[in-house]
Amino acid sequence: MPTTQETPTTSPIGRKTPRVDGPLKVSGMAQYASDFHFPGMLYAVPVEATIANGRVVKLDTAAAEKMLGVRAIFHRANIGKIFSSALGKGMEGICIERRPPFEDDVVRYYGQYVALAVADTFETAKAAADAVRVTYSKDKPNVENDLKADEDPEVIETTYGPENRLESERGDAEAAFVSAPVKLDQTYVTPAETHNPIELQGATAIWDGSMLTLYEESQAIFNMRGVLAQMFGLPKENVRVITKFVGSGFGSKLWPWTHCPLAAAAARQLGKPVKLVLSRKMMFQTAGHRAHTQQRVRLGATPDGKLVSLMQDYVYHRSMLDNYHENCGEATAFQYSVPNLRVKFGRARRNIGSPSDMRGPGAVPGLYATESAMNELADQLKIDPVRLRVLNEPKIDEGLGIPFSSRHYLECLELGAEKFGWSKRKLEVDSMKRDGLTLGWGMAGAAWVAARFAAEANVELRDDGTTRVACGTQDIGTGTYTILAQLASEKTGVPLDKVEVALGDTSLPEGPVSGGSMATGSVIPAVFAAADNAITSLLTVATTTPGTQFEKRKPTDLGFEGGRVFVKADGPARGVPFADLLRRANLRLVTGSGKSKETFGEKKPKFSTHSFGCHFVEVTWQPEIARLRVSRVVTVIDAGRIINPLAGRNQIEGAVVMGIGMALLEHTSYDPQNGAPINSNLADYIVAVNADVPSIDVHFLDYPDKEINQLGARGIGEIGLAGFAAAITAGVHHATGVRVRELPVKIEDLLTSSVLG
Ligand code: MOS
Repeated sequence: MPTTQETPTTSPIGRKTPRVDGPLKVSGMAQYASDFHFPGMLYAVPVEATIANGRVVKLDTAAAEKMLGVRAIFHRANIGKIFSSALGKGMEGICIERRPPFEDDVVRYYGQYVALAVADTFETAKAAADAVRVTYSKDKPNVENDLKADEDPEVIETTYGPENRLESERGDAEAAFVSAPVKLDQTYVTPAETHNPIELQGATAIWDGSMLTLYEESQAIFNMRGVLAQMFGLPKENVRVITKFVGSGFGSKLWPWTHCPLAAAAARQLGKPVKLVLSRKMMFQTAGHRAHTQQRVRLGATPDGKLVSLMQDYVYHRSMLDNYHENCGEATAFQYSVPNLRVKFGRARRNIGSPSDMRGPGAVPGLYATESAMNELADQLKIDPVRLRVLNEPKIDEGLGIPFSSRHYLECLELGAEKFGWSKRKLEVDSMKRDGLTLGWGMAGAAWVAARFAAEANVELRDDGTTRVACGTQDIGTGTYTILAQLASEKTGVPLDKVEVALGDTSLPEGPVSGGSMATGSVIPAVFAAADNAITSLLTVATTTPGTQFEKRKPTDLGFEGGRVFVKADGPARGVPFADLLRRANLRLVTGSGKSKETFGEKKPKFSTHSFGCHFVEVTWQPEIARLRVSRVVTVIDAGRIINPLAGRNQIEGAVVMGIGMALLEHTSYDPQNGAPINSNLADYIVAVNADVPSIDVHFLDYPDKEINQLGARGIGEIGLAGFAAAITAGVHHATGVRVRELPVKIEDLLTSSVLG
């Protein structure tokens, strides 16, 4: 069983590699978007609506405008033209909140921007924004927590294009459910969760004639360029987006929010650079969140545990104008073998800011529901939950009717069970004790899509023995700088500390979105092709430079390995370092470009490409004081080849931490009176911190998936969160006997199991 954490090799691929940008970050030299300052720069602070449904009747800006240092108070009448944007092909023109800011006087959610104060300092701008008096006509907002699907056609428009509400169907799921000997019918609820990257969102906009430059912490700079170009009526060459470092995104920074065009419009009106950074509160209102979902799952099975029917009917909330789709059926159709299946969804409009992608969008709430249902069915059947999954392992992707490129789910389960000691689990509730605590053991499976986005890259070999790799993708804290350095080093033989990495700028070759856990898998073929082309150029130089041992040879006679050019017949030992050759030829550098196509969104794929995994969790429960802790986690991930096991492990650990938050803590609450997300700060919106997290035992299987790229690397950013909450709630049930089907698990839910109750 190949379960190596690290491939023993001299190659940088698969080697535990500390982040190449680490020193810049810990020394404070790394410049995040809002760290850039420009002469004459002004500060903008939006005025947030304090109602969630109604209309702006009057905007009194007089007091604010008179304040010393205030440059302008912008609103609908004076912001200037901001166009709308439209979805293009592939990954172009994506924007969740399409309505240009200030387009009308209607307020559709709490915190919607209704004006913008711009001043010489941030403090003055904030004071001015607070001094703007807004009069509203108000209606009761609809932030109702219980979701009933609105009337919708069968095929609907979403942020990414049309979707069929009947997402997947095979056999006759209703009939098979009715006649199934064993049935489960439960509804699982997940709350709105808000992304809380440490780095706040924000934009600094600078105009130079009709050229717009935007410093913004984007997970997708090229999409941002395209959308901003549309909004300002410019050719996209006139817009440049720069994102050197990102203090995490989790999906909140994938697509442009309304503060970006606001900063750009204000800068245009004033002829000065304008910086607009959101407050933490605004992050809860206007920059996305994971949609609140309600999912009814029905399972039909035989008494010996074979699934005969699976139905998932889910509803999620969305905003009044937008069409963000929370695809909770992402993994349902292929995860288990079942002849009769139906996945269908509906949507419910609410007076809230638009939901958006959040780490493992769709699959994370979806797998929480379906994996919870599997665990409950296992208990109902008195079958071990691991065994139930083994019994229902599919041979192919039954949703698409095509083989998996690489699926080792059973091996994940086997290894996870072994590492955790699962065989010692006693079936009964409240049956396992340690140190006076009740133990609860739970497990769940995971899956996340794998594919490539289109990518372009450039590689240079230089006369000082260094190399430069350039790709207009982003590093959102996940380690993309390091991955690019490893890839360039692998191909050129240049050690990591002599590799320069350029990313995060739309003036570079067009790189992939840092999303969908697909950046690493996407850049590999493009960087490799670029390096190959640079090497080809170098070999031609070798054969045409007088006075070298390669003169008059054909480029095809030559080889390149470990940074040396050599005659194949003589072997690499007698070769020449490429830097020597370049100096001899009076060349500063040779360069090569490379390009690779997307596989994401292919109409007729040959293989079903996904990563898989599982989680085993132990919780401890103290009924006397109703204290629940997570005490042990084992996570096994089958994500193909792991390029950097150090950063890879960090990704899974981070996802598990987020999973503890999802299961036990995170919950955005909307005030029924004014529609505000009321816990819109890090004191009241609780995320998991170190004290909540035990040591996390992460294992990777190592099965390269060559359908994705030459190295066989799939993504690892999101899968660690998939299914995790279901493992926790199973553990909670095992310890307390309480089935919690609405996240997060609250102490109140468990009091019936406590002496306090
Ligand atoms: Mo991820 S939600 O694609 O950043």
